Amino acid sequence: MAKRTLQYVCQNCGAVTARWAGKCDACGEWNTIVEENLGGIGASPKLRAKSRGRVVPLVGLTGETREAPRIQTGLNELDRVTGGGFVRGSALLVGGDPGIGKSTLLIQASAALARAGHRSIYISGEEAIDQVRLRAERLGLSDAPVALAAETSVEDIIATLEAGQPPALVIVDSVQTLWSDQVESAPGTVTQVRAGAQAMVRYAKNSGAAVVIVGHVTKDGQIAGPRVVEHMVDAVLYFEGDGMHQYRVLRAVKNRFGPTDEIGVFEMGGAGLAEVANPSALFLGERNAASPGAAVFAGLEGSRPLLIEIQALVAPSPLGTPRRAVVGWESSRLSMILAVLEARCGVRFGQSDVYLNVAGGLRINEPGADMAVAAALVSSLSGVALPTESVYFGEVSLSGAIRPVAQASVRLKEAGKLGFTRAYVPRANTKDEPGREIEVHGLAELGDLVAEVA
Ligand code: TYD
Ligand code: MG
Repeated sequence: MAKRTLQYVCQNCGAVTARWAGKCDACGEWNTIVEENLGGIGASPKLRAKSRGRVVPLVGLTGETREAPRIQTGLNELDRVTGGGFVRGSALLVGGDPGIGKSTLLIQASAALARAGHRSIYISGEEAIDQVRLRAERLGLSDAPVALAAETSVEDIIATLEAGQPPALVIVDSVQTLWSDQVESAPGTVTQVRAGAQAMVRYAKNSGAAVVIVGHVTKDGQIAGPRVVEHMVDAVLYFEGDGMHQYRVLRAVKNRFGPTDEIGVFEMGGAGLAEVANPSALFLGERNAASPGAAVFAGLEGSRPLLIEIQALVAPSPLGTPRRAVVGWESSRLSMILAVLEARCGVRFGQSDVYLNVAGGLRINEPGADMAVAAALVSSLSGVALPTESVYFGEVSLSGAIRPVAQASVRLKEAGKLGFTRAYVPRANTKDEPGREIEVHGLAELGDLVAEVA
C-alpha cells in the first residue's frame, strides 16, 4: 500500500507547510490552508532508468519544427497577444474571473482553427456537451468541425487524445475540474490542479499540440487559483474586464515565445466576442465637449498606442481627512503627483477630496500617464476645461521634472489619426519625428504644464 503522505497546502498560492495554520505565511491569506494527501506521489520513488533519454544538437532544426511552429487563429486580437498564434507543443493558461468570457473566447478560437482545417478538440469539464453545442450554435459556429468531449479525469482525457488523429489544438476548460486517480485529494485542490496541469503540459510537449488550459481566479481560496499552474506553462494570458462594461482585455503576463506587454481588446455582445480593432475610439467613448477635469492620455500598451481619457474630480471635503480614491490607476502614484503639484508648483489640494478615474474601466500601469493625471487634477481644481483637441504624456519625477517616455512618435501618430491637434510631451521627446498634423509642446517641468493649463 502506498504510504500516506500528508501535507498542508495553501489553496491560494500553493505554499506547502508542515502543519496547519489559520493564515498562510507565504501569501498572507486566511483560511486557505487545507490538508492534502499526496498518496504515493509525494514519496520519492527509487530512481531507475526506464528508457534512455536522447540528446540532440542545438543547431539543425528538424523539418517538422521549422515548418509553421505557430497556428494562427485568425482572431487578430488573440494572435497579437500570443505573439503570432498558438505555439505547437506548448501549453498556455488563460485565467480570469468566472463569467468573464473565457469559454466563449476559446470556443470561438477552436472553431476558427477547425474551419481552417486544424484538428481542434474542446474538452469541457464544466458544461455538458449539449450546453457547449448550444452556445456554439448561438455564436453561429455550429458548422465548425470542433471535436467536443466532456471529461474530467486526466487519465481518460489523455487516453481520448492519444486514441484519435493527433490534434493541433486542445482546450481544457477548466483546470479546476481536472482530477487524477493518482492523487487522493479532492478535485479543485492545489495538488489535483497541479497534477492535472502537469499531465496536460506533458501531453503538449510529447504530442506537439498546442494545449490551452482555462483557469478560474477566485478570491475565496476554496478553488485552487491558477497561480500554481503559472510556472508550469509556457504562456499565461489573463482575460479581464468588469461587469459594467462590454469590453474585455486579454493580457499576456508571461510568454516564452512572445512579448508580454501586448493586449487584445474584445467586446462581448449578443454574438459572442467581437474584436475591437480601434480601441482608442472605444476608450475615449462619448467625450463631453470641454468639461473640467478630463485629460486625454496618449498611452502605449505593448506595441499599440491607446488614447485614454483620465477624469479627475477635486471637491471640497466635508471630512477631517480628505478622501483620495482611484479607479484604474495606482493610488500611491496619485499621492505622489498630488505631493509634487503641492511642493513644486504651489497647487494646493489640502482640504479637498480627490477622485481619479480612467474612463471605460481600463487599468493603466504606465508612469507616462503622470502628466495627463496632473493636467486633469489642475483642470478640475481650477474649474477650467482643457482644450479638447489636446493629448498629454510624460513621466513626472519627484523633483517636478518631466521625464521622457518610450515611443513618443507612435503615440503622436495615433493622436493625429484620431483628430487631436496638440500634444503636451516631455521636452526630451520633442526630437522624435511627430508627423505634420500635430502641434507638439515640449515641457521640462511640471510647473510649465500648470502654467499652460491653469
Ligand atoms: P463564459 O465564456 O461562459 O465565461 P467563463 O468561461 O469565463 O466563465 O461567458 C459567460 C458570460 O458571457 C455570460 O455572463 C454571458 C455572456 N455572453 C454574452 O454576453 N454573449 C454571448 O454571446 C455569450 C456566449 C456569452
Ligand atoms: Mg467557462
